[in-house]
Amino acid sequence: MAINYERNIKTFHLRTKKTSYILKVLESNHLSHLYWGKKINTNNLDYLIEENLWGSFLTNTDNIETFQLEATMQEYPGYGSTDLRSPAIELQFEDGSTTTDLRYDGYKIYKGKPSLEGLPSTYVENDEEAETLEIYLRDELKNVKVILTYNVFEDFDAITKSVKIINESEEHVNILRALSANVDFKEDDFDFIHLSGAWARERHVVRTSLRSGIQSIESRRGSSSHAQNPFMALARKGSNEQNGDVYGFSLVYSGNFLAGVEVDMYSKARAQIGINPFDFKWLLEKGEEFQAPEAVLVYSPNGLTGMSHIYNNLYGKRLCRGKYRDKARPILINNWEATYFDFNETNIKGIAKEASNLGIELFVLDDGWFGKRDDDTTSLGDWFVNEEKIKGGLGKLSKEINDMGLQFGLWFEPEMVSPSSELYRNHPDWCIHVPGRTRSTARGQLILDLSREEVCDYIIKSVSDVLENASISYVKWDMNRNMSEIGSLGLPPKRQRETAHRYMLGLYRILEEITTRFPEVLFESCSGGGGRFDPGMLYYMPQTWTSDDTDAIERLKIQFGTSLVYPSASMGCHVSAVPNHQVDRITPIETRGVVAMAGNFGYELDITKLTEEEKDAIKEQVKLYKEIRETVQFGDTFRLLSPFESNEVAWMNISKDKCEIVVSYVKQYAEPNKWNKPLKLIGIKDDDKYEVVGENMVLGGDELMNIGLIIPELKGDYAAKQWILKKYTHI
Ligand code: DGJ
Repeated sequence: MAINYERNIKTFHLRTKKTSYILKVLESNHLSHLYWGKKINTNNLDYLIEENLWGSFLTNTDNIETFQLEATMQEYPGYGSTDLRSPAIELQFEDGSTTTDLRYDGYKIYKGKPSLEGLPSTYVENDEEAETLEIYLRDELKNVKVILTYNVFEDFDAITKSVKIINESEEHVNILRALSANVDFKEDDFDFIHLSGAWARERHVVRTSLRSGIQSIESRRGSSSHAQNPFMALARKGSNEQNGDVYGFSLVYSGNFLAGVEVDMYSKARAQIGINPFDFKWLLEKGEEFQAPEAVLVYSPNGLTGMSHIYNNLYGKRLCRGKYRDKARPILINNWEATYFDFNETNIKGIAKEASNLGIELFVLDDGWFGKRDDDTTSLGDWFVNEEKIKGGLGKLSKEINDMGLQFGLWFEPEMVSPSSELYRNHPDWCIHVPGRTRSTARGQLILDLSREEVCDYIIKSVSDVLENASISYVKWDMNRNMSEIGSLGLPPKRQRETAHRYMLGLYRILEEITTRFPEVLFESCSGGGGRFDPGMLYYMPQTWTSDDTDAIERLKIQFGTSLVYPSASMGCHVSAVPNHQVDRITPIETRGVVAMAGNFGYELDITKLTEEEKDAIKEQVKLYKEIRETVQFGDTFRLLSPFESNEVAWMNISKDKCEIVVSYVKQYAEPNKWNKPLKLIGIKDDDKYEVVGENMVLGGDELMNIGLIIPELKGDYAAKQWILKKYTHI
């Protein structure tokens, strides 16, 4: 049993393969959190229930002098009573009051895991894969019910958590804050780790020590954003890649979020994650329900790598869906950095022809094929082909590209509208805006109001029409701006602050509908690169364009950070031209290949303009990646040397059956007169033996892990080396 309820002590014990999560109903019927961490045997942790603190300036709970909620580890604290730390929930009632008092009101345990209505979430393939605990809390005075749902994925070693609020009263209730998870820790000896950045330098790893007060990351941008990722970890002081306690919090959501920690007066940490309460308010009329997104909680005693493996596996296998979840992803070539908007069917076919000669499998036509779009000032929303550029239309072009032996893929940006478009002329009220205020553009565009059903229906229809009328096996779904002047003509004044979340619900409906209608199509999500690289999008689209920064050296940090949570198969990584278009750097083609092979491999340059040597190099890379892609995409990733800590960067991918290892090493800057330390591998069995392909060498797992691979002398800046190791089975 993954979930056990000990009736006499009113204690719930949730167990995964290696962890325990323990909750207790107190005498007062408050739900207390007692423990989360390495698996323990006991169910009885009553000795952890706090005594009151003398002279503490804390308020007595239920007017009992020895009981103070603020000194108690709580599971889902409400605002307004005697715990004055950050609440998980805050409601406002018809009388204007904001005090919420939630007490335990029962539970249910069952096998399996239901999906969350209208929201992305992890799933099970059969009911044996997870057990579910629902705990019911109730505000007696106001008749509001809260359901805390915990799903225990025993084998994946993860616990997911979501929250539903039901208004069972005769009055309306406003939700001001409804976070998805709250975890109280007895201590604060942690570092706060998050993935932060900006456009073209997303998900850099930031690690700082916890301190007194609130430390948080958030998005107010209407999407999960380039700036912050809906993820944080608390890593025990001294923990590192391989060792020590790490607690991960990840939110399956693509909109505004908050993830943070409050260290209180007694140096105890409260960690929280959920929809950002900033500019959020949700009206629950009598009888209505609100479902908050799912949080995925992961504990690892084996450092960051242990945590990453749990997220990578769970997200790869039980969040991503569809035909491509377990299928090797095609090597693609995208024309964006090759042509930008300046293309026609002739040069497109030229690139495709050359790509086919080099063994590439999929050609992707990026922005600029529709309406009158020759630059970024026009036509978003007008999803019909520009016949001046693509004579004969997409049906003909896609067929011709198929005839070259390539699949055909297409770019869309369906959530947007250009003021200069037929769609905007016909429906000027369909964008997010506040009447009377400026409709501020970004990249010349406005955002369609996906909180409105008819707008979503238009998107579903217009994208479906294109997909139905050409041979399209891949879609790149882009989104290139954040929200401003947030308001919806479809909502009454009292619901305006629901717009940003309703947008996400509309988007999720569109994605569910389109991905269900076109199950054969491989979808890649994108938001100016990695502006929406989050678990919410992965539920619909199994891969994401990691960043608009295609420079191999910049990518080291971006991909390293991304790998903390997201599987390699989800990371789109392309070899692009030099000098690089984002940073002007010149790197060797070999290094660009090694770095892009860390994920889902592809190209993004005009290959018709390359030298014969460069084409040969690409041909070799394509051949090699086809051989190793199962290992890269679906194996385990170990981060060996961090770009945030050293000039040398390394990682390895090992297949699940441990038969193949791909080791990648990049030395960013050349150093004179320096001996490179051998590169020690991780995660191999001592007794296994591996042949180092091309080097006439067989090494044992013990040697590879304790001595390491010898790094040859590499000349020049940005040099790379890759080793392929095959399990050696000869006696
Ligand atoms: C932003 C994307 O990240 C790029 O790859 C490209 O598709 C452009 N948009 C096209 O406008």
